[in-house]
Amino acid sequence: MTLKIDGSLLLAGAGNMGAALLAGWLDRGLDPSAVQIQDPAPPTATRALLERHHLTASPMLEPLPKAPAVIVVAVKPQVMDEVFPGLARHAGPQTVVLSIAAGRPLAGFERQLAPQAAVVRAMPNTPAAIARGISVAVPNAHVTAAQRQLCDALLRAVGEVEWVAEEALLDPVTAVSGSGPAYVFHLTECLAAAGVTAGLAPDLAMKLARHTVSGAGELINRAEAPPSALRESVTSPNGTTFAALQVLMGEGGLAELMTEAVAAATRRSRELAK
Ligand SMILES: NC(=O)c1ccc[n+]([C@@H]2O[C@H](COP(=O)([O-])OP(=O)(O)OC[C@H]3O[C@@H](n4cnc5c(N)ncnc54)[C@H](OP(=O)(O)O)[C@@H]3O)[C@@H](O)[C@H]2O)c1
Repeated sequence: MTLKIDGSLLLAGAGNMGAALLAGWLDRGLDPSAVQIQDPAPPTATRALLERHHLTASPMLEPLPKAPAVIVVAVKPQVMDEVFPGLARHAGPQTVVLSIAAGRPLAGFERQLAPQAAVVRAMPNTPAAIARGISVAVPNAHVTAAQRQLCDALLRAVGEVEWVAEEALLDPVTAVSGSGPAYVFHLTECLAAAGVTAGLAPDLAMKLARHTVSGAGELINRAEAPPSALRESVTSPNGTTFAALQVLMGEGGLAELMTEAVAAATRRSRELAK
């Protein structure tokens, strides 16, 4: 379905995530003339995307003739404070702000923009770059049904979307899906390194690990059955997989490590929130 906005969209920050979102919107047919981009120096990959769609980015946008329907905030959390005054100037009473800045709570936006400002806070993840991300979003009390639908469509352009009512859940969400791709990258590194220790050449070990993780990921994606059923279906009693899983599923194994890792990321997400 073509992505249409009743009004315009302002994107603040066109780096990795901002550009992934922009590419998703344009792929879904969003009219480039409805998009304004604020970014002092977009990276090379973004510049190529902008050129293809005859778009430009400005360090600071001139006042717009009409307030945008939506402002998407995709700058680093640490530059949010310098971006807020500009956002406050551009936002109108009908504007919804969709922020993906990690650890920047809804209350901060309400304080900096207006107490009645409609704000959605979302946490996407890096597979958004290939439109295979998952985002979790939480609206504040001022977001209308139409604004929520618009934010859902904008996030859905780069993958799946889930909505939660409780903002505090974004900390464990960050720890599971926000940081999760890095855990899978590390799993791939560990599998390759273990293959080298077991006697494989490094290039072959990495190729095997890479294809195994991405192929297994795609199986999980396509299967109706849960991952536990997929695991059981490839584990014969007393076979090779069984021997490895005795280690991974034993005491101090992956389940315990993952629980600790997710707890550490959740704690850090809470600490970073301001
Ligand atoms: N990457 C992820 O996996 C991920 C996942 C979830 C959430 N997020 C969130 O997404 C946001 C963006 O992350 P990212 O990885 O895309 O960062 P990024 O690649 O550094 O992109 C941020 C962009 O904002 C630009 N910028 C700096 N100051 C600005 C200003 N005053 N106005 C407008 N643009 C400005 C930066 O330009 P310069 O480079 O010149 O400073 C850069 O092009 C962060 O808040 C992050 O928490 C990222």
